[in-house]
Amino acid sequence: MVSRRNFLAAAGAAAALTAGGKALGACGGADGLRAVACAGGRRFGAAASTPVLGREPALADLYARECSALTPEWELKWAQIQKTPGQFHFAAIDRLAAFARRHDMILRGHTLLWHLDMPDWLIADLGRDTWARLIERHIHAVCGRYRQDFFCWDVVNEAVQTEDGRSDGLRDSPWLRAAGPAYVETAFLLAAEAAPGVRLVYNDFGLAGSSQWVRGRQTAVLRLLERLRGRDVPVHALGMQAHLRVGDEYDQRVMADFLREVEAMGVRPVISELDVTTDRVEGAAAKDAAAARLARHVLDVVLGETACDTVVTWGLADPQSWIRRRRPEARPLPFDDNLRPKPLYEAIRAALAAAPPLPA
Ligand code: XIL
Repeated sequence: MVSRRNFLAAAGAAAALTAGGKALGACGGADGLRAVACAGGRRFGAAASTPVLGREPALADLYARECSALTPEWELKWAQIQKTPGQFHFAAIDRLAAFARRHDMILRGHTLLWHLDMPDWLIADLGRDTWARLIERHIHAVCGRYRQDFFCWDVVNEAVQTEDGRSDGLRDSPWLRAAGPAYVETAFLLAAEAAPGVRLVYNDFGLAGSSQWVRGRQTAVLRLLERLRGRDVPVHALGMQAHLRVGDEYDQRVMADFLREVEAMGVRPVISELDVTTDRVEGAAAKDAAAARLARHVLDVVLGETACDTVVTWGLADPQSWIRRRRPEARPLPFDDNLRPKPLYEAIRAALAAAPPLPA
């Protein structure tokens, strides 16, 4: 509670709070997660992909019932949307946006700059004199097209990689090699210009936890946010991907301390890609129970201690999960292979129901 007050009082927080904070996505009549989240002033959503929704009507219905927010799983990634220089392919994301509109959902924009899914031409063209122009063209074209549909943008994704050995913890990516650290700030400024009033998010993995590796990443992200906020760069939210793994360390106090520091900068934490890996647990029932316990443990801190208003899972049902491609036995998502809710579903539901309501 204290941290929530700090957050609301933090200098500059008011502007950050309202940016993109209004549009909740309709609550939905049924008692799905979207309704439970909405009752507390939050939204629940999941990543979705256009072809899967198109060919699986039962799954599409499940999205409509459960989600007030959708994240495109791949449709906005650079290699999909700008396969060739300056030519934009909007057909797939247009279909997803139409689905979202039909079901009163809002979209999370994922993602404008990432070191993966970059087309070869882009990697070849990125240089000291070209990077700013390339980023500007992309952000203006993509953000500019979808002003009403997107309530936030993951402007920069996964810019931190402490293993790369830089003192600022930034990833040695093609963006960094061309531009130095300035690309992060430039991307946020351009996004603010192209999508005024929309919430701008820095998104990364390895933040919801407490291992030494996670703590190193938390420190690097805090430094990055400090640098950006110190220069008045509009970064409104921190997307914690929350790809959790049973058996890793999740000390609630360490997580709460980190979140408090994030909020003290006027940056709102959100959960952007939740799923749970249970490779260290044997048997489907035990995996499901462990995944539910861990998700509840983490959500209780994030929802209980912060103004987090968005929980998004990375897919809704197990067969869709990106983790399944590597681990066929994985059960990382709220619904099973037959679209039946699992203990993880109940855990998310209970955490949303127990969380203190957010101010309207
Ligand atoms: C993954 C998608 O799920 C895959 O379909 C795609 O091939 C690669 O990307 N962090 C992110 C997401 O920010 O964009 C990633 O999504 C998963 C990890």
